[in-house]
Amino acid sequence: MWYKYVLLFGAVLVFNFAVVDAVVFRFTNFQCKSYNESWYVLNYYRLKAVSRDRVLLNINGTILHPAYNIQVHVKVYKKANGFKPWLFESTVDACKFMKRRYDPFLKIVHNIFKEFSNVNHTCPYVGHGVVKDFYLKPELLILPFPSGEYMLAIRWYFDKELTFDTNVSFVYMEDLIKRT
Ligand SMILES: *[C@@H]1O[C@H](CO)[C@@H](O)[C@H](O)[C@H]1NC(C)=O
Ligand SMILES: *[C@@H]1O[C@H](CO)[C@@H](O)[C@H](O)[C@H]1NC(C)=O
Ligand SMILES: *[C@@H]1O[C@H](CO)[C@@H](O)[C@H](O)[C@H]1NC(C)=O
Repeated sequence: MWYKYVLLFGAVLVFNFAVVDAVVFRFTNFQCKSYNESWYVLNYYRLKAVSRDRVLLNINGTILHPAYNIQVHVKVYKKANGFKPWLFESTVDACKFMKRRYDPFLKIVHNIFKEFSNVNHTCPYVGHGVVKDFYLKPELLILPFPSGEYMLAIRWYFDKELTFDTNVSFVYMEDLIKRT
């Protein structure tokens, strides 16, 4: 019945409000690599810790020729004696996605980072693509999530060739002391 879904939705909301101030959610590592520097050049990428709870991610890369055909291969790893594949793996047409947010997982990722980036339009992409002072806000993570350290590995294919990759690790930790 419909009201069951309302209750479930309500429970998820309450859960999220309960943990908003009681989590650690921050970047721990960030690695990028270009595989074709005549198309994509990384000008810089770095993490910077500004407080115990906040780590800023910055990246600036230049697409030297317009890219019309972009696939992203997204895979999430969870740390347990090294990083192991975990739950999500998805290949998405980035140009279609920017018109119509059809992949639910990537939609969550996109909502978390979009306000920090100028890569907020539809294809083609050319020129400097920047993510500036991006930090993780737990309130944007609309799914219940087990505590742990994760890595989001994204491989970017231009015209079906691997052009660059971005691997970002983060911790998500519920703080049980603050929560009670
Ligand atoms: C590298 O990029 C150039 C465009 O600058 C493209 O013509 C070439 O096919 C690409 N090479 C590979 C291996 O993807
Ligand atoms: C990104 O890097 C390019 C090349 O170094 C630079 O010209 C541009 O101003 C940078 N953009 C930002 C927002 O830092
Ligand atoms: C896209 O980002 C640029 C630079 O951050 C901003 O000026 C512009 O308003 C944004 N456009 C949209 C549609 O969000």
